[in-house]
Amino acid sequence: MSRLDVCETLDGIKFPGHLHTRESLQLALKFAFQDTDIVIATYPKSGTTWMQQMVTLISTKGDPHMSQTVPNWARAPWLEHHYCAALVNTLSPPRVLTTHLPHRMLARALQGSKARVIYVSRNPKDVVVSFYHFHKMANFLPDAGSFQDFLNTFLEGTVHFGSWFDHVKGWTSQLGAMTNLLHVTYEEMSMDFEGSLVKVSSFLQCPLVDEEVNSCARHCSFGSMRDNKMINCSLIPHEILDHSKGSFMRRGKVGDWRNMLTEEQNEHFDRVLVEKMRGCSLGFVWEDPAQR
Ligand code: A3P
Repeated sequence: MSRLDVCETLDGIKFPGHLHTRESLQLALKFAFQDTDIVIATYPKSGTTWMQQMVTLISTKGDPHMSQTVPNWARAPWLEHHYCAALVNTLSPPRVLTTHLPHRMLARALQGSKARVIYVSRNPKDVVVSFYHFHKMANFLPDAGSFQDFLNTFLEGTVHFGSWFDHVKGWTSQLGAMTNLLHVTYEEMSMDFEGSLVKVSSFLQCPLVDEEVNSCARHCSFGSMRDNKMINCSLIPHEILDHSKGSFMRRGKVGDWRNMLTEEQNEHFDRVLVEKMRGCSLGFVWEDPAQR
């Protein structure tokens, strides 16, 4: 399935037709979750693949075999992608599922379910920079234009996958209401990987011994993931992801936005952030002192 120029729109949000069909999106909305399911929910470029890797390694107690032999999309399929229906019933419990859908689209399907949901967020300035670079490679996403153009579209919330602000507010507003929801940030994974690993493994009731923690950390490192074909997108053909225009495993840093946003863009971003996140108590980590 190619459909590189097709865009599917659902509930005002655009999705690339290469991965989504009208039918696959509709199926996701009424997905039959099992109580043993583990769901990784993210806005794109927030650490999705990193969390897929962490969860895979937790479930194998640090044994890297599965993460080195099965592509991430096959071991933790996106439930809104067109191939999910055929794949999902071949997964043995606990199934690991991924989604970029906003909470409101899955609220009904998740209601009453004991599926455990891990929501990963990342500071939005690093998200927009990472997303911009990804648009330049991904032939199934629209032409990003200049960074200024892309930034405007991102701040307006009209990029593919919808508004980052609504996505983060929607999922994190459920933190009190859903007992089976864990929030993890890209920044905490970056600054305290082992702490995040322990947090996620306890949430999944899958405690690890020191040796297993060390193995998970090793195989979740940026370098190890960059060299792992099952994760680094190098198996995706050039006509879909143009590898001459960048790499999926690009920088992997907290605060890379400082290399891209001008002072003026940054000030404008801050004003929009305050406006759009009004009433939301989340704080953001904009840089890692250790990476300065
Ligand atoms: P950058 O483009 O800033 O490098 P997603 O999986 O949600 O699409 O997110 C991709 C982003 O996560 C990319 O960010 C990628 O480099 C980063 N990433 C993936 N694995 C990582 C790891 N092990 N350590 C740090 N960053 C990682």
